[in-house]
Amino acid sequence: HTGVESSILPTAAAVSQAPVALKTVVLYASQSGNAQDLAELLHQNLGQKGIDAELASVADFKSNKLKEQQVILMIASTHGEGEPPDDAIDFHEYVLGKRAPKLEGVRHAVLSLGDSSYEFFCQTGKDFDQAFSKLGSQSLVERVDCDLDYDAPAAEWIAKVVDEVALLSDFAPTADVQNITTANPACEWTKANPFTATVLENQKITGRGSIKHINHLELSLEGSGINYLPGDSLGVWAKNNAEVVSEILTLTELTGDEQIALKEGTKTLVQALTENLEISLVNKEFVSQYAELTNSDALREIVAENYLNFIKNNQLVDVIRFSPKKLEAQQLVDLLKPIKPRMYSIASSLQAAPEEVHLTVGLQQSENDNGTRYGTASHFLIEALQEDDEVLVFVDENRHFKLPENDQPVIMIGPGTGIAPFRAFLQERQEISSSGENWLFFGNPNFNTDFLYQVELQNYLKDGLLTHLSVAFSRDQSEKVYVQHRLLENAESLWQWINEKQAYIYVCGDMSRMAKDVESALITIAKEQGGKSQEDAEVFIKALKKEKRYQRDVY
Ligand code: 2AM
Repeated sequence: HTGVESSILPTAAAVSQAPVALKTVVLYASQSGNAQDLAELLHQNLGQKGIDAELASVADFKSNKLKEQQVILMIASTHGEGEPPDDAIDFHEYVLGKRAPKLEGVRHAVLSLGDSSYEFFCQTGKDFDQAFSKLGSQSLVERVDCDLDYDAPAAEWIAKVVDEVALLSDFAPTADVQNITTANPACEWTKANPFTATVLENQKITGRGSIKHINHLELSLEGSGINYLPGDSLGVWAKNNAEVVSEILTLTELTGDEQIALKEGTKTLVQALTENLEISLVNKEFVSQYAELTNSDALREIVAENYLNFIKNNQLVDVIRFSPKKLEAQQLVDLLKPIKPRMYSIASSLQAAPEEVHLTVGLQQSENDNGTRYGTASHFLIEALQEDDEVLVFVDENRHFKLPENDQPVIMIGPGTGIAPFRAFLQERQEISSSGENWLFFGNPNFNTDFLYQVELQNYLKDGLLTHLSVAFSRDQSEKVYVQHRLLENAESLWQWINEKQAYIYVCGDMSRMAKDVESALITIAKEQGGKSQEDAEVFIKALKKEKRYQRDVY
C-alpha cells in the first residue's frame, strides 16, 4: 500500500519544477474571424507547451473577470474608421472607461490587425494596449500592428508570446506575477464602518416638464468585496444641504468655525452640521426644548396643538426661523440628534453589474412659507453628488424581499421609484437564465416624461423575460389610473397566476396610499375570482404573506 501511495505523490523535486500556473486568457475582438483564427492558434500553441489558458471572444468574456487574470493576450481587429468590431464595442468601452479594473502585476501582449489604407490603422489594438498599460499592466511582448497580409508577423508574435509566457510560468516566483486582487476579504462594511463608493453615473431619468425629479445613480463598489442580493437596500450617509447649514448658522448668529465636541471627536460646527447632525427632520422634543430656550409662545402652541400638521411641510430650520436666537455652538449641538443613514432599495443585480450598485432616487421636496425644503438624502444624491464624487454606503440585507428560490412566477408592483428592486429582480433573472415568468406593474404620472427604464423594460418584454408589462400613467387621461386599477382589470389572469401557478407577489413604493390600495385590490381579486367572502379573502392574503408569497418593501 505504501508503495502505491508514494508513487502518486509528487517528489519534492517535481514540486519545485512544476510551472506556476498563471491565470492566462487569450481574448479576441474579431469582425470577420481572422483575429479569432489567430487567437485559436495562439491558444493551441500555448497548450502544446503545457500552458493552460482560457480562450474567449471579448463579446462573451465577463468583463469583471478581467481583473482575475495574470496574463492577458489579446488579438484585436480594427473595423471602419478605427473602431472595434461590433461585438467588441462594450468590452472596448469597459477597458477604456472608468470602470476598468486596476491591472497592477498583470502582463499583457496585444496583436492588432488592420488595414494601413485607413487613417486609424490598427486603432483598436493600440487602444487596448495603451489601456492595459495605463491600468498598470506591463507589456510582455511588444505590440505588433499587422497590415492585410498578417500571416508572417502574426506567426512571429505568437511564437514570441508563447516563449515569454512559458518563461514566466517556469521561473517567475508566484509573488512577482500575482495579480493584486482588490477584494477585501472578511472586511465587513457596515453602518458604523461604511464603504466609500465612487459615483460612476448620476442621471436624471424623468423628462423635461415632469412633475417628478428622479435620478438613476450608479456607484462603484470596486475593491469592497461587498455582496448583496436583489431586494436588499443600500444605506447612504448623506451630507446635509450647505444652504440649510448656512441658514441655521445665520439664524443662530454662529460662524461655523466654532470647535465643538462630538463622540466622533472635535470638529468645527459647520462640519458637524454638514456630516454628523440631523438638521432636517424635526422631533417634538426639539421643538419643545427650542421653545423653552427661546421662550417662544408660538412654538409652545405648535407643540401643544398643531404639531403633526406643522411637521408636514416644515423642517428643523423652519422651527429655528420661527424664533431665531443667538446661541452658543454647543447649545445648538446639544439640541440636535445624530444624523441617520437613509435606506434605498437597490436597483441592480451584482450578476449584471458586478462591483456596482444602482439606485433610483426621487427628489423629495415640499413648499412652505420659507421656500422649498428638500429631503436630506435625495437632495444630496441628486443635487450635490457629481460623477467621481464619493459617498459612504453599506448594504442592508432584506430577507423579506427576495426572489423565490426556484423559478416560480413573480408579480411585481412598483409604481414610481418602487420600480427599483424590480429592475434588480429582472436583471438577476436574466443573468441566471431563470425560466420563471415575470409580470411587472408600473405607474407614474405621465408616459412621456416618467416611464422609468422604458427602453430596458420594453427590451425585456421583447426578449420574453417580461411576460407582461402593465403600466398606469395616472395623469395621461382625465380619470386617474393607478396600478391597482390595472390589477383589477387583469383579475382573471392574475388569479390564475396566484392560485394555480403559485406566483409570488411583490409590492414596493408608497406605503400610505398605494400599498394599501393594492392590498385592497388583491383582496377584491381573491373575492371575485376565488369566490371567497371578504373575510376569507383577507385570510387568504394574510396566508400568502405568511408563506412569503406576498412580500412588501414599502415606505
Ligand atoms: P398621481 O401623483 O398622479 O396621483 C407614482 O408616484 C405614481 O403613483 C403616480 O402616478 C401617482 O399618481 C400614483 N399614485 C398616487 N396615489 C396612488 C395610490 N393611492 N395608489 C396607487 N398609485 C398612486
